[in-house]
Amino acid sequence: MSLFISFEGPDGGGKSTQAHLLVDHLKGRGLNVLLTREPGGTPIGDQIRRTLMDLGNTGMDPRTEILLFSASRAQIVHQVIRPHLESGGVVVCDRFYDSTLAYQGYGHGLDLDALRTITKFATGGLRPDLTLLLDLPAEAGLERRRSGGQWNRLDAYDLAFHQRVRQGYFELAKTEPERWVRVDATQPVDEVQAAVRQAVNARLA
Ligand code: TMP
Repeated sequence: MSLFISFEGPDGGGKSTQAHLLVDHLKGRGLNVLLTREPGGTPIGDQIRRTLMDLGNTGMDPRTEILLFSASRAQIVHQVIRPHLESGGVVVCDRFYDSTLAYQGYGHGLDLDALRTITKFATGGLRPDLTLLLDLPAEAGLERRRSGGQWNRLDAYDLAFHQRVRQGYFELAKTEPERWVRVDATQPVDEVQAAVRQAVNARLA
């Protein structure tokens, strides 16, 4: 069966660790699973990712940011995600368009309707079936990133920006409660993974 799962949440919530663990679990169940991430996930997207994350690009306008994220997204949807779903597989994506609404919309204050229009153009209207919100306070997430040595240009936005992002996720989840499952990402890794698997297995049942 085809299923499209995305991981979302503030930085430092352990999304990529949890996505890898979930993929191992689903492969163990015999499913045809593809793990990917945004921005990136294709050779073109990886080049765009380097531009977006480069700490030297301090002058990047938020509008440039959304267009670059969307360009990477258009490529991954066309080249990777749609073909895999069409072949009946499961796709697990570390971030998808909800990151744009949370970061560029709620974080930077860009118009949400405009972002939705650009997003729809980039994705052709593709929507995840299930979105796992790995939630933790912005301060805790940034501290994990700093100590993990993964600091990038977006992490360097101020704390208030990251707090707006987290609130933005709550707003997004409220408008589509059937798609979103919130998981407390301050818990130990195995407990977070147990909650993730429970949500996914319920969809697969
Ligand atoms: P990550 O791959 O380590 O999660 O880093 C990606 C960063 O880019 C993260 O800070 C969230 C941000 N981001 C956006 O601002 N908008 C987007 O559309 C996406 C996909 C990510």
